[in-house]
Amino acid sequence: MIKFRFPDGFLFGTGSSAFQIEGSPYADGKGENTWDYSVRNYPEKFYNNAKTEPASHFYTHYKEDIEEMRRQGLKSFRFSISWARIMPEGHGRVNPLGIGFYNDVIDRLIAAGIEPFVDIFHWDLPQALAEIGGFKNPDIIEYFVEYARVCFESFGDRVKLWSTVNEPTVFCTAPYVDGRWYPFETDIRGALLASHNTLLCHFRTVKLYREMGLKGKIGAVIDVVPVYPKDPTGKDVLAAQYQFERGSGWWLYPMFRGHYPENIIRDCDGFRAAMPDGAEEEIAREFVPMDFLGMNYYYPGFAEYDESSIDKSTRVESYYVQEGQYFALYPVGLYDAVNFVTREFGRPEIYITENGLGLVDSGNKEEILEDDVRISYLREHLRMIVRSIEGGADVRGYYYWSNFDSLEATSGYRFRFGFYYVDFETGERTRKKSWEYYRRVISTSLVD
Ligand code: NOJ
Repeated sequence: MIKFRFPDGFLFGTGSSAFQIEGSPYADGKGENTWDYSVRNYPEKFYNNAKTEPASHFYTHYKEDIEEMRRQGLKSFRFSISWARIMPEGHGRVNPLGIGFYNDVIDRLIAAGIEPFVDIFHWDLPQALAEIGGFKNPDIIEYFVEYARVCFESFGDRVKLWSTVNEPTVFCTAPYVDGRWYPFETDIRGALLASHNTLLCHFRTVKLYREMGLKGKIGAVIDVVPVYPKDPTGKDVLAAQYQFERGSGWWLYPMFRGHYPENIIRDCDGFRAAMPDGAEEEIAREFVPMDFLGMNYYYPGFAEYDESSIDKSTRVESYYVQEGQYFALYPVGLYDAVNFVTREFGRPEIYITENGLGLVDSGNKEEILEDDVRISYLREHLRMIVRSIEGGADVRGYYYWSNFDSLEATSGYRFRFGFYYVDFETGERTRKKSWEYYRRVISTSLVD
C-alpha cells in the first residue's frame, strides 16, 4: 500500500468560529452581532429559522471539549474571537468576562499541548458597527485596529498564530452584493468599497502587530478557489482568469504584492468603474507583507466567457456536486490551489485553515456516526497536501473543518461537518468514526 508521510512538526488541527460554535449569544455581557440580530429580525433568511443559540454549546462545554481535543492528539485548534463578546459596542468599552473566557480557552489549550490559532474576525460584526455601514464605512478601519489591539494586548503573549480576516470574499459580497446577509444589499460598488476597507483593516492590523513586537506570526485566511475554463482552449481561459481575480485574487495580489489583480481591471471596464476612487494608489501605499497564508479550500470554480457580465464570465455548474453534500468534491483543486500560490507568490508559508465535508442531516444518528465518506474525503485531500509538499510547497498545517457539527451561516443546522455529532438540544457530543481515523493520522503522520 502506498503511504503518504507528513513532515515532522506538521500541525494537524481542526477549525471553528465563534458564532458557529459558542452559543450563549447574550451571556456575561456579550453585545449583539449581525447574526444574533438577523436571526431575531429576519428568521425566514435562515434554514429552519436557525438561531445563534445553541450552536455547538462551546461556551458552556469548552472544558470537556479541549480534553477531547487532547485525546484525539490535535496539535492545534483554530477558533475566532467574538468581537462583540469582548467589545459589546464594537469599540470603546471592553468586557472583562469576555476576555476571561478566551483567556481560559487559550490557557487550557496550551496546557493540553494544543497550539491556539486565532482569527480576529470571522464574520460576526457587532451590530452597532453594522448599523453605521459595516465595512463600507471607512471608520471600520479604526475600530478594527482598536479591537485587534485589545486582542493582542490580552492574548498576544500566548497566541503565536493570528489571522486578521476569514474569507473576506464572502463577508464583503454576501451582505453588500449578493443580498444574502444583513443588510441584504445588491450593490457592486458597496461590495468593492467594503473589500477595499477590509484590505486596509488587514494591513493596519499587521502593521500594529509588528509595532507591538509580539513574538508570533500573522496572516489572513483566504478561500482560494481555483477557477478552470469550461473550454481550455478558447476565451473561457480569460473568463477563468477574471473570475479568479474577482474572488481569491482580489485578496491574494494585494496581500502578497501590494496591488489589485491586473487583468480584470485592465479588461473589464464596468468592474474597474465600480472601484473606489484612488483605491489602487492607496493599496500600494498601505501594503505590509504578512507572514503566512491561511488557505480555505472546498471546491473549484468553472467559468465560461460572457461579454455581458461585469467580469466577462459566468459560473458553470460543476459535475462534482453530489446529492446530500454541501459542496462539489474535487481534491485535485486543493493541489492546484497550493501549487498556484507557491509559484505565483514565491513559496509562502501556508496553513490549510479549512477543508471539510458537510453532509445533510439525515435525522438518523447511527448513520451519521458511520461517516466512511468523510474518511475518504480526508484521505483524498490529505494525500494532495503531501504531494504538494513533495513538489516544493511550504505547507505547515491542516485544519479539518470542523471540530464539531455547528451552525452554518444561512443554512443553519442543515449540514453536519464535524468529527463530533452534536445533539443541539442537549449539547451531548458523540465521536464519529472519522474521529478515530484522524487520531491515527495524527499519531503516525501517515495517510494511506
Ligand atoms: C468557510 C467558512 O469560513 C466557514 O465559516 C464555513 O462554515 C465553511 N466555509 C463551510 O461552509
